[in-house]
Amino acid sequence: MNSFLNYNCSCCNNNLVLINNFGKMPLANAFIDKKLFHKEHFFDLKTAFCEKCKLFQLVDQPKKELMFNDKYPFYSSLSEGMKLHFTNLYKNIFKNHLSQFDDPLSLEIGCNDGIFLENFKINNLRHIGIEPSSNVANIAKNKSINVLNKFFNNELTNYIIKNYGEAHLIYAANVICHIKDINSLFSSVEKLLHKKGKFIFEDPYLGDVIKNNQFDQIYDEHVYLFSIISIENICKRYNLEIVDCEKLLTHGGSMRYHIARTGEYLVNEKVSKIKDEEIQLGLDKKDIYLKFDENCKKFKNNFVNLLRDLSDKNQSVVGYAATSKSTTILNYCNISSEYLNCIFDSTEDKQGKFSPGMHIPIRSDADFTKIKSNYCILFAYNHKKEILEKEHKYSINGSKWIELFPLPKIIND
Ligand code: SAM
Ligand code: TMP
Repeated sequence: MNSFLNYNCSCCNNNLVLINNFGKMPLANAFIDKKLFHKEHFFDLKTAFCEKCKLFQLVDQPKKELMFNDKYPFYSSLSEGMKLHFTNLYKNIFKNHLSQFDDPLSLEIGCNDGIFLENFKINNLRHIGIEPSSNVANIAKNKSINVLNKFFNNELTNYIIKNYGEAHLIYAANVICHIKDINSLFSSVEKLLHKKGKFIFEDPYLGDVIKNNQFDQIYDEHVYLFSIISIENICKRYNLEIVDCEKLLTHGGSMRYHIARTGEYLVNEKVSKIKDEEIQLGLDKKDIYLKFDENCKKFKNNFVNLLRDLSDKNQSVVGYAATSKSTTILNYCNISSEYLNCIFDSTEDKQGKFSPGMHIPIRSDADFTKIKSNYCILFAYNHKKEILEKEHKYSINGSKWIELFPLPKIIND
């Protein structure tokens, strides 16, 4: 049965259909000290679908300052694979787009520690990074990248136009899906974009989430999971269009959207091809999302049973990579340290702290092979190749990895 909510779509104001209710959830990246457990912030993690503009969204998102501040513990440059990803992208965008302009201006929304913009800095190209989380913004500044330590909004847009002029490239990775006021965002982009400019962004892709049951992509920061259909609907309102798109393997399955002013560039046939695939899959109708909710419940059931079974057999279980995504899985499935001893992670800011909500101890990845365990849950499946290569010794003595999606499974059992 449909559950219509008293909430309206953040994009088109239409009444929303409730899809998932994951219950009380802490902030995904709020790794916490023991002495602060009593102050932990929780909110209701629910998703909804808009039958009009087809946007899949959170019903409610915590205040942005709670999530993005001076303690944001996600450092983009910790992954060698992602460094390569952004260097290759820079080369590609320079060759195929920026090289046609004299002295082009590039702007990145959510530049984090400068993983992408350092390529512009090295090549002496005009650039601006916009990054509200001061700890990561400072790392970028220390690389001599030009960073404004602010949230991207209309006021900042006016400041940028006045002081730097229009942008030939506006780029964002894993950020646009964080920004609740999607209309204000697109209106700012429309204002800031040079006539022949491109707005290129990539985010986790709704199609992959639904196909692979990756519900862990749903957490406070990801207020939206986009599809070509929903982005196309937003673009129309601002006289913009998707001129190209690329499916990516990053973050467990992403989509890169290339957007320009309507009529300025030829539209690649891939756009309508992928849109057709989305319609085939049913992303434009609520039924697939209701089925997805059933699959999430099935995941929970299987995961709890698997961990209970291993515990009954006195098998020790640890986790690898305290990802933001893991917060949703652990809290939704109610997995405490009774079933999961600890999680190993390379982020110094997370080490010695506890996971949000479930309070699993986070330890340095340097200790991973020093501490014997029978099973390890790979939370960062998006870095599987990098991690399994680095930790190849883990399985030598019979320890096993557990993969999560579409349903939890012991590898090589
Ligand atoms: N772009 C990097 C990447 O792909 O590795 C970082 C992605 S990280 C998940 C999201 C980043 O966006 C954070 O550094 C956060 O502080 C920033 N951010 C969040 N909301 C923003 C906003 N409204 N304007 C600009 N940046 C924002
Ligand atoms: P992400 O899935 O949001 O990219 O977060 C990746 C997390 O995984 C981050 O906390 C760092 C951690 N990590 C490791 O611990 N070891 C690794 O080799 C890699 C690539 C990531």
